[in-house]
Amino acid sequence: MNKQQQHNDFYREHKIGVGVMGATGAVGQSFMWMLHDHPWFEVKRVMASEKRVGRNYGEDVHWILPMEIPPAILDYTIESFDVAAMKRDGIQIVFSALPTHAAQTAERELIEAGMYVFSNAAALRYDEHVPILIPEANIDHLRWIEAQGYPDKGFGITNANCSTTGLAVAMAPLMKYGVRDLVVSTYQSVSGAGHPGLSALDITNNVIPFIDQEEEKMTEEFRKILSVDFDIFPYCVRVPVMFGHLESVWVEFEQEVDLDRIITDWHESSQGLEHLPSTPLRPIEYETQRDLPQAKQAFYGFPQGMVVYTGRLKRQGHRIGFNLLVNNVIKGAAGGSIQNAEAFVARYLDA
Ligand SMILES: NC(=O)c1ccc[n+]([C@@H]2O[C@H](COP(=O)([O-])OP(=O)(O)OC[C@H]3O[C@@H](n4cnc5c(N)ncnc54)[C@H](OP(=O)(O)O)[C@@H]3O)[C@@H](O)[C@H]2O)c1
Repeated sequence: MNKQQQHNDFYREHKIGVGVMGATGAVGQSFMWMLHDHPWFEVKRVMASEKRVGRNYGEDVHWILPMEIPPAILDYTIESFDVAAMKRDGIQIVFSALPTHAAQTAERELIEAGMYVFSNAAALRYDEHVPILIPEANIDHLRWIEAQGYPDKGFGITNANCSTTGLAVAMAPLMKYGVRDLVVSTYQSVSGAGHPGLSALDITNNVIPFIDQEEEKMTEEFRKILSVDFDIFPYCVRVPVMFGHLESVWVEFEQEVDLDRIITDWHESSQGLEHLPSTPLRPIEYETQRDLPQAKQAFYGFPQGMVVYTGRLKRQGHRIGFNLLVNNVIKGAAGGSIQNAEAFVARYLDA
């Protein structure tokens, strides 16, 4: 029996109770959708803003995902943020899809109380011992939780901003060739701004060449994830697409790199992560068709939305160019967080 089957068999019988904060937003819904039939985790507490406490999730949520809301989550009652109650419910792991301002206090309070927080917000991302974890890129940063005091204390693990995640996943297997600098332009979907997000009057039939703080986040987070300090030149643009961030990238290497070798590096990027249920067989899929990847593929792959698609690979001297597509609410947010929690469970909790 392999490691994943062993964990699946154990946790199917003894599921780990989790809480979801911000469960009604774009990322929160993605958590609820991915967790409703997760082999290891079971949602025990669903939270949103105070005004929704006591309401029925199925009736109250404004469902924006392109798949049907799972019947299994319709009957949850939205509950208050209550750390003592979470502890009484046996919750140790909390997934956060809160806006950063709300996460600032709530996430720190949870960690203080000994909980394990897996967050999409930027509140903890830049703290020294808090990893911005992407299993395909920097699984070794998982052990930073020990510097936060685990196992005696709680900890926080964050994921990157969604556009950074796609870039870091695609670049991680190529770092060994020595990177001089990197130029990236993004074409980001409207769900990246959450719900209700941008006004339809602003984004319909339009392209907006500015996303507040996004370019700064891409540079700082990419460098922290991959422990590098070379120059990164990002331009981030909002486009009228529902889901999926497309990015075009030019990288200069210290040497000439073979394009077939790069495709092989991408296709082998799941090595050592096969035991995590939310990791696709191929986390990076190279598209040979010349007009792919496209945003409409955002929910392709298995698990849906977890594959980063690359395409249009080309070379000029020591530079290579390519396009990539990342699902911002799944791999770039909820799915990435769930994968991080799986990595923690697999490494630190014995089945
Ligand atoms: N959208 C993306 O693609 C994406 C990708 C990566 C990371 N992120 C990050 O993930 C987080 C969530 O993003 P989102 O796009 O899902 O945002 P969103 O659609 O605006 O959802 C925010 C959620 O937080 C709840 N909330 C708001 N204020 C609160 C408060 N003061 N106390 C408790 N709950 C509160 C909302 O509840 P109500 O519905 O009751 O207001 C809702 O459930 C953000 O930090 C964002 O930067 C987003």
